[in-house]
Amino acid sequence: MQPITNIAIRAARRGGEVILRQVDRVEHLRVQEKARHDFVSEVDRGAEQAILEVIRSVYPDHAILAEESGRGGATETDLRWIIDPLDGTTNFLHGLPIFAVSVAFEARGVLEAGVVLDPLRGELFVASRGEGALLNDRRIRVAKRTNLDEALLGTGFPFRDFGNLDAYLDMFRTLLPRVSGIRRGGSAALDLAYVAAGRLDGFFELGLNPWDTAAGLLLIQEAGGLTESLREGVSPLLSGDLVSGNPKLLSELRDLLAPWCRALSGPPVD
Ligand code: IPD
Ligand code: CA
Ligand code: CA
Repeated sequence: MQPITNIAIRAARRGGEVILRQVDRVEHLRVQEKARHDFVSEVDRGAEQAILEVIRSVYPDHAILAEESGRGGATETDLRWIIDPLDGTTNFLHGLPIFAVSVAFEARGVLEAGVVLDPLRGELFVASRGEGALLNDRRIRVAKRTNLDEALLGTGFPFRDFGNLDAYLDMFRTLLPRVSGIRRGGSAALDLAYVAAGRLDGFFELGLNPWDTAAGLLLIQEAGGLTESLREGVSPLLSGDLVSGNPKLLSELRDLLAPWCRALSGPPVD
């Protein structure tokens, strides 16, 4: 395994420790609303600090894009860490046990390492570019299912920005009667890891940020799956509007969603 992947794992585990220490006392946490329906707690911030400490101690010259502290580190490098210290904050703050730590490393715009850790279940999803994807050291692959009628999809509902609500509901209405089921877990990083592990056959969501998806995108790629942007000409990482699955299923999903993509408004994430 690449040394960089080991650091990503060590950093994610440190973040997971901070989260686990507070998991039984969520009602005592200090919580702020960054924007409507967008919460941050001292756990998000503490986990991010723990993750950054690990990364900075080894790679002080790398750039950082982290959800809570934004851009940091060196600016004149194209080696960058993309971090969501707690993906699924709303779940966490309600005691709903579906959340994860997401840590990815990108060199010259190419994702090289991605780690998603579910600290409660002790599930560690790891991808290194060109080396495949693992769940707790066992190789994972996307599901082989190619019949849409049998497919179980993951998604995320709009909850903060409703600019594309109509397009999203049209997509949902199009897919719901055609698939076996659609789940909304509340952690996009875990949803993508579950696609990589074949637990979900596909996934779609609008308005995600790079820290939600970076690690999961590499996991899916290394597990034999694909992700496409729902915005023409913009990468899935930057567009934040995306659909994933095994190659056969993905092309069907993309064709079904295409009519609603033209209606997507607002800037893609930066
Ligand atoms: C959120 C989760 C959720 C997704 C949202 C994300 P956060 O991340 O991934 O599943 O639907 O779009 O913002 O705010 O809990 O880190
Ligand atoms: Ca997130
Ligand atoms: Ca978060």
